[in-house]
Amino acid sequence: MSYRKTRQPFLVPLALVWLCVCAPMSAQSASNSGQAASGAVDAAGHQWWQNAVFYEIYPRSFADSNNDGIGDLPGITSKLDYLRQLGVDAIWITPCFPSPQVDFGYDVSDYENIDPTYGTLADFARMQSTARSKDIRIILDFVMNHTSDQHPWFIDSRSSRTSQHRDWYIWRDGRGPGQPPNNWESGFGGSAWQFDPRTSQYYYHFFYPQQPDLNWRNPAVKDAMFGVTRWWYERGVAGFRLDAVGALFEDPNLHDNPVLPGKNAFGDPNMKNKYNENLPEVHGVLQGLRQVADKYNAVLIGETWTGTVEQLREFYGPHGNELQMPMNFFLMGINKLSPPEIRKGIAEAEAVGGWPVYVLNNHDRPRSYDRYGDGVHNDAIAKVMAGLYLTLRGTPIMYYGEEIGMQNNDPKSRAEVKDPIGKTGWPKEKGRDGERTPMQWDDSPNAGFTKGTPWLPIPASYKTHNVASEQKDPNSILVFYERLLALRHTNGALLDGDYVPLNENDPHVISYLRRYKDDAVLVAINMSAAPQKVSFSLAAKGISSPTSKTLLTTMNDKPGEAKLSGMTLAPFSVYIGEVAAGQSVAK
Ligand code: NOJ
Ligand code: CA
Repeated sequence: MSYRKTRQPFLVPLALVWLCVCAPMSAQSASNSGQAASGAVDAAGHQWWQNAVFYEIYPRSFADSNNDGIGDLPGITSKLDYLRQLGVDAIWITPCFPSPQVDFGYDVSDYENIDPTYGTLADFARMQSTARSKDIRIILDFVMNHTSDQHPWFIDSRSSRTSQHRDWYIWRDGRGPGQPPNNWESGFGGSAWQFDPRTSQYYYHFFYPQQPDLNWRNPAVKDAMFGVTRWWYERGVAGFRLDAVGALFEDPNLHDNPVLPGKNAFGDPNMKNKYNENLPEVHGVLQGLRQVADKYNAVLIGETWTGTVEQLREFYGPHGNELQMPMNFFLMGINKLSPPEIRKGIAEAEAVGGWPVYVLNNHDRPRSYDRYGDGVHNDAIAKVMAGLYLTLRGTPIMYYGEEIGMQNNDPKSRAEVKDPIGKTGWPKEKGRDGERTPMQWDDSPNAGFTKGTPWLPIPASYKTHNVASEQKDPNSILVFYERLLALRHTNGALLDGDYVPLNENDPHVISYLRRYKDDAVLVAINMSAAPQKVSFSLAAKGISSPTSKTLLTTMNDKPGEAKLSGMTLAPFSVYIGEVAAGQSVAK
């Protein structure tokens, strides 16, 4: 098995691959936080983030306003109309704070500012107010497990064993000369301990040595970090995506982790992160963060790589008082068009019991265009996957470029690699550059991303897969996304309906109802390269209508009706139709 197919997210050792209190806001915070203040719910009692479509932006790669080859905040601001037209309600911007950029922003040296590469606080304010005028909310990335080694807290911490911030990080003596305190490994290769000769102790880092872990057992760390979220809420931020939540706590007794057979892509022994991942103490912190968030009607999204339904459930909190949106990554682990596996994944997501959050792509995993594509029908397959995850119950988080069928563009040699793990792990681990390439806006040089030299190379496919060309083509992936998102924003069953699986033994076609009161929508997706005949008996579900009214399909069918007793689905196609027609439906 190739590593790219099995690459585990960085917080899963073994895992399967895989209200609002509405506390009255102070006058100042209400006015400063703009849209974040809206606590309105819809007829089904859903809050804004349940009806919203989220979109992840890797700021380095979205749009470059000053032609230095790197995307920036004014670039994002200039594309907000595009996002509105697409049907995006909230953008999650991966870290744009001051940073040495060792991990491209996930090494923060100042939590309350903007990295000059991306702009200024004034640029942030402009982006925020422009977004607000277009009804788009801003979500920032909260890198809470670790800081940069250039953060003033760490600079002070490492300066002496008695410094003010010494206990803000995790310092320990080695087991003996040249021996780290225990066998824990960094998710990015090598020991998780770095010896610092200045004070002759080791500090702990789950990721790169330049990303020392904060000591969340120290209340001063908690206070400072909670304060950071408040600072941004006051500037209109509508929530945070919490980075690496599972890594927040470690066993204070530093027990060795169990070693497993085999080696990983970095050549280190495989290991079960029993003592340094998903420790129960994380939940207390999340409950505290949620109390702060609730004061601003803000949403917390978790980078929650979990192995089981139970683990994921825990991140919602015992009383729904932790994360509103812990991400479910099951689609990241199923890389084939397999209705049985996908059905099982959806069933597990539903079994969690909370509001699901689906993710098909992100900046850490190869793009879905290549993961699912067969090399021949990739565009049709991209629509199939969109038709699936954008019609499920829950909130989707898109990743920039998936809507135009951007492909992965992995480095061709180690010398080209920018992401440090690609250098350490080459050739098994090529790093994450391939999924982070510039957004393809048009077919001009550099895909209209920059007039300078783009920081990562753009694949030749930008000539056909770009926003400008696809906007003109009614059969493009982009136009399908636009129509699909418009439908999900206006259709009550798609917004609020239950998920009811149908024809559960069909090996080729995944189909289900989304049902809310008297409204029901039928979704049928052919995941095979051959036409498939399907029929649906919905009488037992209280639907006696023999036909379905077509709402959207990738088959060039004219709008009209389809017979439920015998429908032919073209290869790799999506059909979405209305079936309830006002008749009352029973479960
Ligand atoms: C998870 C982020 O998604 C990844 O890009 C980053 O390298 C690690 N956390 C460390 O912050
Ligand atoms: Ca720039």
